[in-house]
Formats: sequence, structure tokens, C-alpha cells
Amino acid sequence: MTEKSAAWWRNATGYQIYPRSFADSNGDGIGDIPGIIGRLDHLADLGVGFIWLSPVYASPMVDNGYDISDYRDIAPEFGTLADMDRLIANADKRDIRIVMDLVVNHCSDRHRWFQAALESEAALEHEYFIWRDPATDGGPPSDLESYFGGSMWEFVPHLDKYYLHQFAAGQPDLNWQNPELRREIYEMMNWWFDRGIGGFRMDVIDLIGKDVDAGIFAEGPDLHSFLQELHKEPLAGRDVLTVGESWAVTPETALLYCGKDRHELDMMFQFAHVVSGWHPEKGKWHPLPFDLPRFKQSLFDWQRVLADDGWNALFLNNHDLPRQVSAYGDDDAYRVRSAKALALALHLMKGTPFVYQGEEIGMTNTRFTDPSQFRDVETIGHWREAMAKGEDPTAFMAGVNANGRDNARTPMQWSSGHQAGFTSGTPWIDVNPNYAGINVAADRSNPDGVFDFYKTLIAFRRSADIVTDGRFQAVAEHHPAIFAYTRECEAERLSVLVNLTAEAVTYDVPDALAVAGECVVATIDPVPSLSGRVELRPYEGIAVLGSV
Ligand code: GLC
Ligand code: CA
Repeated sequence: MTEKSAAWWRNATGYQIYPRSFADSNGDGIGDIPGIIGRLDHLADLGVGFIWLSPVYASPMVDNGYDISDYRDIAPEFGTLADMDRLIANADKRDIRIVMDLVVNHCSDRHRWFQAALESEAALEHEYFIWRDPATDGGPPSDLESYFGGSMWEFVPHLDKYYLHQFAAGQPDLNWQNPELRREIYEMMNWWFDRGIGGFRMDVIDLIGKDVDAGIFAEGPDLHSFLQELHKEPLAGRDVLTVGESWAVTPETALLYCGKDRHELDMMFQFAHVVSGWHPEKGKWHPLPFDLPRFKQSLFDWQRVLADDGWNALFLNNHDLPRQVSAYGDDDAYRVRSAKALALALHLMKGTPFVYQGEEIGMTNTRFTDPSQFRDVETIGHWREAMAKGEDPTAFMAGVNANGRDNARTPMQWSSGHQAGFTSGTPWIDVNPNYAGINVAADRSNPDGVFDFYKTLIAFRRSADIVTDGRFQAVAEHHPAIFAYTRECEAERLSVLVNLTAEAVTYDVPDALAVAGECVVATIDPVPSLSGRVELRPYEGIAVLGSV
């Protein structure tokens, strides 16, 4: 195994592509792999080191590909295996690796495993899933609810049994207790590695070690032994990146996944900074107002926990979350400046940053006015439940517009042309109506655009060891407007100071942040020195590299 300190992903930036919404090459309204290949230069210009590609495998698309019916084939609407090989090769020419999405907590009910499991209880594959007898009244074995609404149990009449699905009924949970299943998964991973991919993002990976009868799903008793086995089988000795997704991981459990001696994963996507913005009981459809100190607290806690061991995956948005300028910045008057402020705050912390498609031009959440615009299985399921319970549709719609997954899945805005240059046809989901002003062509031709700012940050990370290795120190942690920290290596200091509010701030730079040196990036003009009193207009920020 390569030494962790030499790992290529430490100074690389990732770029997440949600293929359905990235670029459509044939006018059917659905983004596809040839579309991605046609846009690789955009990513090469940005300077990213790898692409996290959301699922492109064969799938009935109940959950837009997170329900896989064949792990070794590509969905026809996305292309072919030959297209995938071309994508890997063309990206490689630009020094960009392809990190695929590994969705193995569950598969699709159309997968041949599940089809065989349905056919006969004697089939080997029957044990690949989780079955229980009905309760004495014939109802589901427990009243657990799935993430997308309704019971976690689906009845199969001819078997007189229920199967478990934590997500949609079309996403039956896999039974990781079965060694044959685990072997099939490892072989499939090897098959992809042999095609040249650069790693895997592991979907809800903390759910695989569950103990269903004890009611333990996330971070279950067998999670880490499975991850260690998974490391030993397909991963060991390969120079690849692994990032696990977990909504349950905490600073206390983080190192169990990515500590050096654990031999499990390289890094984790954690969601403390996201979930802390939800109503504690009512959940994601009831967002709390943005609270900067609370937000800083979760991000800084992770910096501290993974200071000397493990590694952070840095991100503010993805295909499940609202766009960052809409959630944490200002998607109106200060859109451009707040997009840069958030990038600056995030990218110079310790870890590997991930950019979600469109973030690099400051794309915003769309706003829906009618439920017929929804496409997402989660939103549709929860909407139906809320309406059946008699909840207020206007309030629910507000929750959807704040935290719904569709709202950040609208097509990539390439130009001010037909359908934002995404497709020559009709897109599968409405384009955000603001595309005439917000698009790649417009942003990239503007020297003060968001793209150029990202490019500078990404290039700086590549060239400056202090961004990879420097010691992180939070500054002004409880300040209601300032997001600030330093990174230090020997006598060098990188200081980051950002006003993350829509108000002007006068700030007295403390010694812990003061530095004399060169400005790395700034949205302040003229650039101030980082000492004494600094005036910051809304969402202004600066990073300075110098000596202490
Ligand atoms: C992850 C994915 C999400 C998907 C779910 C089930 O959270 O990011 O999009 O719906 O897992 O696979
Ligand atoms: Ca297409």
C-alpha cells in the first residue's frame, strides 16, 4: 500500500457529477456519459484531480440510479460500457481520475439477485436479502419507517414474507451477513478497478453492519469488520481513493473509519454541519435559520478530531443537499461574493474538497411552485404523507424549496441558449429559470467570476504543502460574522478570514490570525494587510500566506 502521506488525493480537488443533469449529448433530455466526455475540458480548466460520478449503472431509476439492477453494466440512457471506458481514458489524459459510486447497502428489486430471491427460498440469492415473517396480525414485522416514507418492510405474498428496504421498496437491503454476497461485491469492485477507475464513494456505507432484530441500522455491530474485510479484499495495494457516506458518524466514531491503523476507508462524508440546520424533531422539511457559530462548530470539531490521523472530506453541497449559496450564503444580491466566501472558507481547511457540479459558477437552488415539478422519490413520498396527514401545503413547499433534493438537481447551466445549453430537447427536470444570467459561458468570461476564484483555490492547493499538511487552528470561533482559521507549517502561516454575513464587519485581527505575506486570494479591493483593524464588506474574504 502506498504511504498515506503520498496519496494523490490529498492535494487534489474532487468534482461531483450528477450524470442525469450534467450534459445531454443526444437530445433526450437526460444527461449522459458522452455529454460528460464533451465537457471534460471545463473540469481540466478548473483543475480538479478526480470526478465523483454519481451512479451510471443499469437501473430502473426509482432513485435516479441509486437502485442498481446490474453493477457491471451502464444504464442505456447514460451510454454503454464502451462510453464508460472512453470516459476513464479521456479523463486520464487530463490527469483526472474517475471515482464511481458504490451503492451496496441495497440494490434494485430488478437485480437478478433479487429476482432469484423471489423465485425460491431455496435459491442461494434468497439469503442475499433480509426476510422476516409477518407479525401475528399479518402486518409488517415492525413499525419501522423507510427514509422515503412508508414501511421499511414490503410484503411478498407468494413467499408469505416481508423484505427489508431502508429506502424505496425498489431498493431491497442487501444482507452483508452472507459471505457469498460479500464475495460477489468484492469481485465486482475488482472488475471496475481493472477497468481503470480511481476509487469509490461508498453510499450510506455505515448501514451495512446492521443488526435488524436489535433495531440497529447505522454503525451496526459488524460495520467495521465488514469494512476491514472490504479493505483487505479489493482495496489493499491499490492506489485509489475511498470516501464513505455516513449520516451517523460523529467526531467520536470518525477515526474508526479512517484512522491509519484501521485499514478501512480514506475519508468520510459527514453531515453534522448539515443536520444541525434542521429542526431537531421535525427534521429536514423544517429548516432552522442559518447560524454561523453552530455551523463553524461542526466543521471545526471535525478539523480537530482528524488533525493528526484520518482525513476530512470537505463539502457543503451535493445531489442530496441544497446549493451552498442558497443554504449558507446569499443567492440573490451577494450571490457571486457569497459563493466565493464559502469556497474560501472551505477549501483551505485540512482535507479533500469536493465541488458539486454548478457550484463553480455559483448556481442556486431552484424554487418550485407546484408539486407536479417534483421528480425525487423522497420528496414525492414525503409530500404524499404530509398531505394525507393534512399538513399545510404552503409550509411543506417552503421546506421542499429549502431542503428538497430536486432543487439542486436541475440541469447544469452551460449557456444562455436553449435549456441553458444542457439539452437540445426537453430536460427531465425543469431548468432553473435564472440560467440566462447564471451560466458557465457568462461566468467564465468574467474575470471576477466564481469559476476563476475556484481555479485559483484549486491550483493553490496543488502547489502549497501547507494546505495539505498545515496544522489547523480555529480563530474567533464564537464570532457571529467571521469565519477564520490558520494553517501552520514550521514558521509559515496561512491565514483565512471571511465575513460570512450580508452585513459589513469591522474586525480587529488577533495575533493568532495576523500574518505578513502574500495574498493568495481575496475578494477585497484594495487588499488589506492582515493585522490591526480590517473592514470587511458583506461576504468579503481573504487568504494570506506568510511567516508568523
Ligand atoms: C445516499 C445517496 C442518495 C440516495 C440514498 C440511497 O444518501 O446519496 O441520493 O437516495 O443514499 O441510496
Ligand atoms: Ca441523453
